[in-house]
Amino acid sequence: MSLPKRVVLVGPMGAGKSTIGRLLARELGYQFLDSDRLIEERCGANIPWIFDVEGEDGFRQRETAMLAELAETQGTVVATGGGAVMKSENHAYLRKDAKIVYLRTSIEQQVERTRKDRNRPLLQNDDPEAVLRNLFAVRDPIYRQLADIVMHTDRKSPRLVVRQVMNRLNPKTPRHKRKVRKEGRDHA
Ligand code: S3P
Repeated sequence: MSLPKRVVLVGPMGAGKSTIGRLLARELGYQFLDSDRLIEERCGANIPWIFDVEGEDGFRQRETAMLAELAETQGTVVATGGGAVMKSENHAYLRKDAKIVYLRTSIEQQVERTRKDRNRPLLQNDDPEAVLRNLFAVRDPIYRQLADIVMHTDRKSPRLVVRQVMNRLNPKTPRHKRKVRKEGRDHA
């Protein structure tokens, strides 16, 4: 079985990158790392504060530095912020030794999943749906171009998405073996 050193999840706000990333990491026996949470830890402040004080540019600089660090990790599943693909200099960091999985999600799902969120500065305005639409128009082709795997997430549970990603990462593993691994771990 040849698994990638790193699995990188890209996709829009509300795609479920953190939830799916955590489950996928458990399934692979990898460590889960969330770029946004690590930026917050490093900075000692949350993302709205960083946007307020340093502007989006300041946040993007921190994001690029974090992606460069994460590109050196192995045995990891990395969840990225929705805008991580926007700087072309980030692409090499995202790609390095990794399989990139695009969690493709409809605007309706993005709106639904981010409705009550106060932690995403780009959506704190009168028409977050229009923002999500505009971002999708610009970013969807970039996510697709970068991705090794495009995984649709609408109307699927996180567990189902993870199972399908596992199948795509490792299509040759017989089904019964996957099950044995999982059961073995669950009872450990
Ligand atoms: C952003 C997405 C956010 C976070 C920041 C900017 C974006 O991450 O990085 O608020 O530009 O789409 P999530 O995709 O995890 O919400």
